[in-house]
This record gives sequence, C-alpha cells and structure tokens, in this order.
Amino acid sequence: MTVVLLGHGRLGSAITEGWNLSGSVANPTILTRAVPPVCPPETEALVIAVKPAAWREAVAPLLDTLPAKTVVVSVMAGVRAEDLSVALTGRAVVRVMPTTAVAQGQGVAAIWSDHAEARALAHRLFDGIADTVDLDAEALIDAATAVAGSAPAFFYALAQALAKAGVEAGLTQNVAERLTRGALRSAGSGAATDAPLEDLIARIASPGGTTRAGLDALAAADLNRAGSAAVRAAVSRAQALAKGG
Ligand SMILES: NC(=O)c1ccc[n+]([C@@H]2O[C@H](COP(=O)([O-])OP(=O)(O)OC[C@H]3O[C@@H](n4cnc5c(N)ncnc54)[C@H](OP(=O)(O)O)[C@@H]3O)[C@@H](O)[C@H]2O)c1
Repeated sequence: MTVVLLGHGRLGSAITEGWNLSGSVANPTILTRAVPPVCPPETEALVIAVKPAAWREAVAPLLDTLPAKTVVVSVMAGVRAEDLSVALTGRAVVRVMPTTAVAQGQGVAAIWSDHAEARALAHRLFDGIADTVDLDAEALIDAATAVAGSAPAFFYALAQALAKAGVEAGLTQNVAERLTRGALRSAGSGAATDAPLEDLIARIASPGGTTRAGLDALAAADLNRAGSAAVRAAVSRAQALAKGG
C-alpha cells in the first residue's frame, strides 16, 4: 500500500513505529516541514497527523500532486470530515482516533466514515497496530477521543493523585511515584486481557479488604461524576475546535 503520512510528531511517529513493528505498511512517505510536499502518483492513503490548527496550511501544497482517488485518513481530533473533504476537493475521508500505544502494536482506534472503501482502507492501516472499533456516527468520534485518545492522561492524573496521597500517608515522593507507576503497569497488563473490567476489579477487591475500602471511598468521593466531567469537557472542547474555536 502506498501511504503518505503528513506530520511526524508524537502520534505520527507512534503510527510509523507500529507499522515497522507489525510490517503492515512498508516505506510510507513521511512529510515533515523539512521534506518537499510532494505525493507519489500512486498514493492510496494520505494520513493527516498534524495539529488541528495546522491542517489547512499543511495540506494546501499537496493538492497539486495528490491523486484524485487518494483516501484522506484524518487522525486529528475535532476536524470534521466534511471540512476535510471540501478542502481536499471531494476526496473520500475516514476519521480514525488512535492511541499512541499503536507504537507497540497495542493501540485502540475508533474508525468512522460514510464511505465503505475509505473505512476498509482505515482497517488495513490500523488493524495490525490497534484494536479497531467501528463507530456508527461521526459525532461519536468526540466521545471516542475522550475515552481513548485523551484517557491515558486521565489515568496518569489519577496516578499522580494517588502518589500524592501516598506521600501524605508517609511514603517518600520517589517511592510513592515508583509504586504508583508499577500499579499503573499492573492495571495495564490486566486491561490487555479480555477479562471484563468488573472481573479485573473483583480479582483485587476481596469483600471486607483494603481495596474494597478504597473503592468505597472513591465511590463516596463521586468518581463517576469526575469521569463524566472529564469526558463531557473533552467532548465539548472537540466540538468547539470543529467550529474553529
Ligand atoms: N498525541 C496523542 O496521543 C493523540 C491521540 C489521538 C489523536 N491525536 C491527534 O494527532 C494529531 C497530532 O498530534 P501530536 O500529539 O502528534 O502533535 P505533535 O507532536 O505536535 O505533532 C504534529 C506534527 O506535525 C508537524 N507539522 C505541522 N505542520 C506541518 C506541515 N505543514 N508539514 C509537515 N508537518 C507539519 C509538526 O512539526 P513542527 O513541530 O515542526 O510544528 C509536528 O511534528 C492532532 O491532530 C491530535 O488531535 C493525537
């Protein structure tokens, strides 16, 4: 497959690492600012991985060489397919929302397009490096961004809060942070299995035990409300970005 990747920052480089590791895409053309913005004549997919504020300026110089049949694959948060399709003169667009764990072939990627061939192409690009999840409506990409793309940062923030509480409970900063990071790795390895989240919790929280006591305290502190506030704020930010905010 002939692929052009526009933007090679955190996510773009994670995607190419994943492709190298899995062998699913060979020799993509990587366009950075230092490379002339030229697409090979047989380009099947243009993957756009620049920041949402930079895409119009970044794609404009490609229009002269981009084949008309190239499918546009956007991994950008908050940029609507219709805006991309108009700027890219009617080319088919598929939106994909991956996590940076695609670098290790362990990502998750939500996919939406109203164009069946574009959707199929996104699967060819991402099935080898992510658990791919099809969405029924473009608006759901914003929710997927919140619960997948942004959520690793939410877990880190919870880990930071737990490490801080560990220090308050007498641990040194260094010890609290190492222990919390280890706990996060342990949670990650559980998440990598097929076990339901309820079962993963039940395996650690025996009735009357320390974990159960902590979980009850989290529920009393309204963890559901905090999770809901984070997701709603991320969704509303994505909607504002789509309107040019
Ligand atoms: N990071 C994540 O976890 C994540 C997850 C899901 C989705 N996303 C989406 O992925 C996109 C990229 O995010 P990121 O975190 O990878 O940002 P990033 O690290 O800032 O990478 C963006 C890259 O695009 C390059 N770029 C900007 N204008 C360009 C141009 N005209 N031609 C070629 N390259 C250009 C930037 O180069 P300069 O440094 O020279 O400006 C930078 O290397 C965003 O739209 C974001 O919504 C990110």
